[in-house]
Amino acid sequence: MAQNSLSIKDNRTGKEYEVLLEDNHLRASDLEKIKLSETDEGLVAYDPGLTNTAVCKSTITFIDGEKGILRYRGYPIEELAEKKSYLEVAYLLIHGELPSETQRKEWTHHITIHTLLHENLKVFMDGFRYDAHPMGILVGTLGALSTFYPDAKNVRDEASRRLQIYRLIAKIPTIAAFAYRHSQGRSFIDPSNDLTYAENFLSMVFRPSTSSRYEADPDLAKALDLLFVLHADHEQNCSTNAMRSVGSSLADPYSCAAAASAALYGPLHGGANEAVVRMLEEIGKVDRIPDIIRDVKAGKRRLMGFGHRVYHNYDPRARIIKKMAQRVFEITGKNPLLDIALELERIALSDDYFISRHLYPNVDFYSGLIYQSMGFPVDMFPVLFAIPRMSGWLAQWQENVSDAEQRIVRPKQVYLGKAERHL
Ligand code: CMC
Repeated sequence: MAQNSLSIKDNRTGKEYEVLLEDNHLRASDLEKIKLSETDEGLVAYDPGLTNTAVCKSTITFIDGEKGILRYRGYPIEELAEKKSYLEVAYLLIHGELPSETQRKEWTHHITIHTLLHENLKVFMDGFRYDAHPMGILVGTLGALSTFYPDAKNVRDEASRRLQIYRLIAKIPTIAAFAYRHSQGRSFIDPSNDLTYAENFLSMVFRPSTSSRYEADPDLAKALDLLFVLHADHEQNCSTNAMRSVGSSLADPYSCAAAASAALYGPLHGGANEAVVRMLEEIGKVDRIPDIIRDVKAGKRRLMGFGHRVYHNYDPRARIIKKMAQRVFEITGKNPLLDIALELERIALSDDYFISRHLYPNVDFYSGLIYQSMGFPVDMFPVLFAIPRMSGWLAQWQENVSDAEQRIVRPKQVYLGKAERHL
């Protein structure tokens, strides 16, 4: 019997099975041989929410949820946040290594020259209702991009994949900014290719239609870039799983990215940063916090921006963002909701309900306050999350379509419906 194996005795039949283990996992398909009879389809693992199922082998992002560790390609998030720009981090996620100076310049050039949107796409975006949620616009426009680049269907072709990666990382800030301008009834501002990734985005968002130039505060542009670094990837979360899952049918990456953004839209995922600020606004005053905590403990509502499937410790991104918030508020003025957020965190972290469930602030708890202070309306927050997550989605998509072990995703179910019956 191999030492690196699991012995399973099926007490229903008395039969014994040996299942091989590799890197602390067993292959779910090995469970199929555990059967009640020859015609039985075999044992399945039932895992709603995929809480204990690895869907891939990946070399991109590492998380230790107990210790609160996050690394991209081996580098601790704290070091990347301090020393690297978002575009360097995006390169790292896609290529596996940080760029040399020449590679950085080339990469930046490729991203920069693909920032423009086709004029017809602007008309398409203009067709959304004036009050359309910018995240809905993003989802729709990413899907529409697939019709502009039919060459993207060649997902098995490495050169084609590289081109779509440039386009998607380059165009998502433009789409995001146009979604914002549309909701404000303001004309679209084309990208300025002499600006950095974050500066250009701020310019497309905030430049007055009558000006030819917008100088973003360099510290705010840097803060936004840092937020982009922190949001770039987070291994197998809901939207990344959507990206991989849709990609497994060999759909083009624009369609996959539309699906991933749709997953990010939900309030339990990327929509949480928006939900946090709405919650803080609803609380309104520090002395209302005990009532809110009581409702949360009674199961009537959730504390948005708290808790995480993987982290059972302080989210390392939230720690960095909390520190950064102070610096941003020195420039923009303090966000009046900060005091409520700090007090909420203090009370929650000393309450047994939260302590026993390991509920700590996550990445979304403080990021919304920063976005709001920078002048973004709340419904733009999930869009601001989607911009940098694009590089993570693409790195994961590329890994998935290049992985010989991957097949079209087709989970099983446990059927509990009626047995055959007739009219
Ligand atoms: N407020 C109050 N109670 C909570 C919360 C919360 N935010 N999160 C979890 N719990 C409780 C939950 O009621 C349950 O308690 P009990 O065992 O008594 O039933 C326990 O903690 C476990 O919760 P769960 O729903 O089984 O945990 P999950 O891993 O399925 O959900 C989560 C993770 C992030 C969806 C959840 O914590 C949540 O809804 N948080 C609020 C939304 C949020 O901030 N989402 C952003 C996540 S981080 C960024 C991202 O991924 O986009």
